[in-house]
Amino acid sequence: MTIPVIRLRGVTKSYGSGEGAFHALRGVDLEVTAGSFVAVMGPSGSGKSTLMNILGCLDVPTGGSFLFKDVAIERLSKDERAILRRRHLGFVFQGFNLLARTTAIENVELPLIYRRDEHHRRRAAAAAALDRVGLSDWAQHTPAELSGGQQQRVAIARAIVTAPAVLLADEPTGNLDSQRSTEIMTLLTELNQASGITILMVTHEPDMAAYAQMTVYVRDGLIDRIERADGTGSTAC
Ligand SMILES: Nc1ncnc2c1ncn2[C@@H]1O[C@H](COP(=O)(O)OP(=O)(O)OP(=O)(O)O)[C@@H](O)[C@H]1O
Ligand SMILES: [Mg+2]
Repeated sequence: MTIPVIRLRGVTKSYGSGEGAFHALRGVDLEVTAGSFVAVMGPSGSGKSTLMNILGCLDVPTGGSFLFKDVAIERLSKDERAILRRRHLGFVFQGFNLLARTTAIENVELPLIYRRDEHHRRRAAAAAALDRVGLSDWAQHTPAELSGGQQQRVAIARAIVTAPAVLLADEPTGNLDSQRSTEIMTLLTELNQASGITILMVTHEPDMAAYAQMTVYVRDGLIDRIERADGTGSTAC
């Protein structure tokens, strides 16, 4: 059964108001099936990060509707959105965003501290997540002692430690060389296939998008077209 985890209808996002308003998203319709791996591509400034911020409940649409599972996001308060974010979503960014003077395992534990899990449970979950990304031996190291690829693995462990339904990644390989990028993509693919976690990933690189089952092309704040890895394509409705 293919259940949509995300349904966007006519989603718009404007910055500013009146004459000077900038319309970053101009009516996006998108359905993402649970367990799928979706790449988002498009020129700089086309609205990819704006779209990801809305999907990640970090920002709210100006108009349209966003259903996450069966919850209408626009009806939630700021606090309710924060709870949904903590429980169901994981984030990975281009710049890793790890706390510098904090060990790998403590970085991974952070989302569980926000969730107020008990200490021993946090430690066990963080250790399991680090093991999942192949970094068990590096748990006590700080980010400065890790390579870029390892830091991104820690960031992925931090994103999955809460067992989110959806992982949002905005250019996760943007700061990595091609070998490290391939390793990160292999890891994301494993997580998608083994855990069934839905992944949405922004990338500028076709080689990285090729790991996804479906690529959404954004242009001028609209979905220009969608291509599926099986060769079928469609234009957005
Ligand atoms: N907070 C903001 N205030 C005003 N304009 C914004 C804001 N955030 C984004 N924009 C504008 O919205 C447009 C889309 O930005 P967005 O960051 O979504 O692009 P992008 O596709 O992610 O680009 P890139 O590939 O460079 O990361 C851009 O023109 C940007 O200047
Ligand atoms: Mg961006």
